[in-house]
Amino acid sequence: MGTETDLHELLRSLRVWDPAVTELPSFDPATAPNTPLPLFTAWFAEAVAAGQPEPHTMSLATADADGLPDVRIVMLHGADETGWSFATHATSRKGRQLTDRPYAALVFYWPVLGRQVRVRGPVTAAPPEQSRADLRARSTGALAAALTGRQSAPLSSPAELRAASEAAWDRAREDPETPVPTWTLYRLRPHEVEFFQGDPDRRHVRLTYLCRGGRWERHLLWP
Ligand SMILES: Cc1cc2nc3c(=O)[nH]c(=O)nc-3n(C[C@H](O)[C@H](O)[C@H](O)COP(=O)(O)O)c2cc1C
Repeated sequence: MGTETDLHELLRSLRVWDPAVTELPSFDPATAPNTPLPLFTAWFAEAVAAGQPEPHTMSLATADADGLPDVRIVMLHGADETGWSFATHATSRKGRQLTDRPYAALVFYWPVLGRQVRVRGPVTAAPPEQSRADLRARSTGALAAALTGRQSAPLSSPAELRAASEAAWDRAREDPETPVPTWTLYRLRPHEVEFFQGDPDRRHVRLTYLCRGGRWERHLLWP
């Protein structure tokens, strides 16, 4: 078991944007498009091309009924004119939080390029047929995980999970169309999207897009 001293020594030994693994591209915000989606799409493709592991994972922040924040990782299912989409159980903790406060924030971190993208906005649940189609398009494992259900409920033992999961895998293999009523595709329609490009001299570029009255404005921010 590591001690606190070990932890602090380890922390001191680490750095961000080690040139051995990170290449910081220059980013001229004057050349950025008028709206955030094409820039997100380009940066996403560049993260994939640069070998960023799991660039499609993102932190999803929500707040509970008292306004207290919460955050966890989910997968990005798509980004288009309808918004940035992800899927989860409506009955999970985050699902309940989204019912109470249908607003969320996302952050992507792509360290191989020293880039971060933040997205904020209202969230809506897609119609059930779209949630079903989204799940159908995914793997047997994704269906089995969704069928296992009870996400965020207290678990009494690993054995209970194993039994539920094995039954869910069997069902998923037998019938790939098995519906999972609580599985929900959500769309975050951004009001604000910020692109952060790390700079070796710490003059990081922060370009934020704000949607005002249906039109996107662009601003630079101090790093
Ligand atoms: C790499 C990774 C990807 C994940 N993707 C999802 C996802 O797409 N949907 C989901 O419901 N949970 C996903 N999870 C699990 C969530 O992080 C979280 O544990 C779970 O959704 C329960 O969150 P909640 O209690 O806040 O509702 C993922 C976890 C990791 C580490």
